[in-house]
Amino acid sequence: MVLDNKGIVTYTQFLREDLVILRFVPENGIMPEYRTGQFLTIGVPIPTENFKTVRRAYSIASHPENRKYFEFVIRWVRKPLPGRVTTQLFYASEGDQIFWGNPTGNALAISNTLSNGQPDKRRIICVGGGTGIAPFVAYAQHLHAIGDKREIIILHGASYVDELSYKGLFTKLDDESIDRGKDKWNFKYRAAISRPKEWFNRSWKGQTGRVEAFFKSKSGGLSPIEELVGEELTKDNTIIYICGYQGTIDGVMDFVKPKGFVTEHDKREDGSFEVKYESYG
Ligand SMILES: Cc1cc2nc3c(=O)[nH]c(=O)nc-3n(C[C@H](O)[C@H](O)[C@H](O)COP(=O)(O)OP(=O)(O)OC[C@H]3O[C@@H](n4cnc5c(N)ncnc54)[C@H](O)[C@@H]3O)c2cc1C
Ligand SMILES: NC(=O)c1ccc[n+]([C@@H]2O[C@H](COP(=O)([O-])OP(=O)(O)OC[C@H]3O[C@@H](n4cnc5c(N)ncnc54)[C@H](OP(=O)(O)O)[C@@H]3O)[C@@H](O)[C@H]2O)c1
Repeated sequence: MVLDNKGIVTYTQFLREDLVILRFVPENGIMPEYRTGQFLTIGVPIPTENFKTVRRAYSIASHPENRKYFEFVIRWVRKPLPGRVTTQLFYASEGDQIFWGNPTGNALAISNTLSNGQPDKRRIICVGGGTGIAPFVAYAQHLHAIGDKREIIILHGASYVDELSYKGLFTKLDDESIDRGKDKWNFKYRAAISRPKEWFNRSWKGQTGRVEAFFKSKSGGLSPIEELVGEELTKDNTIIYICGYQGTIDGVMDFVKPKGFVTEHDKREDGSFEVKYESYG
């Protein structure tokens, strides 16, 4: 028997007809403790199925220090058939009730300690494909809130410029890093647009291609991400977190595996690894 909590939707912001930022608060007012990078299930009654509650997992985009609400960025799945939960969720507006299950998941827990027990001071590179940016919205705000001194780079891949859902927030954090100095807050944000030839993207001057293109070296030299950080990525100086399609994870691994990077899933006998990921499956 699944135990559902009740929640009230408090905010919806439609970025386009199939992309929404949604917040809810627990109906009883009690926010549970949770860890950055976790997800929870949202349940909605489906009218065409005798109001049976159907649940799906959604990454939490808000950070645990924010005790006011849970935030999500959700895609309406419409092909080949309208998704059962997202179709219903896109009818939700402020004041509506939803059901939710407690936060869970370890795949994207931030590594703070190396396998040898030393503090993990490696540069953090987060790669989000589409709505897979959600956990890294939580990362950026959490690491900022706790005053983390590590170098943090957020890479977001989207088909269209209006799908860069958290550009405003990330740009502000990037500007703050320039203003305050890297010794106080070391943060960079870059995006890749995968359909640069589409008319709607005609103003885009940044990285093109899918987000893994940041890792592709130019004729044997440094890759765009290496040019950005000013050195070659090695398994000693960088940990990579990825959330997106399996193709995004595989695409990044194609470039970093030859450098010796291994995933937590395939960690070495001594427990060490350089890549953590959560896939859409
Ligand atoms: C850990 C985790 C975190 C996630 N986080 C997010 C997030 O932050 N944001 C987000 O938007 N999503 C997220 N997801 C995905 C989410 O859980 C759902 O899978 C997604 O929203 C689709 O749910 P749905 O009920 O609308 O679609 P479903 O009804 O489950 O449909 C899924 C797919 O099957 C197709 N389909 C449905 N019925 C049929 C049929 N009869 N024949 C053929 N095809 C069919 C649909 O077209 C769709 O492509 C996450 C998933 C996981 C596992
Ligand atoms: N944690 C999770 O498991 C999780 C989190 C968020 C969302 N999701 C689910 O993932 C699905 C789609 O997400 P979305 O709408 O956010 O993605 P999207 O906007 O359609 O795509 C995002 C980016 O990924 C690229 N892409 C598409 N297919 C790919 C593939 N097979 N391999 C590598 N890259 C690919 C796209 O490139 P093109 O322009 O070339 O298509 C685009 O640049 C939804 O069903 C959503 O519910 C799961």
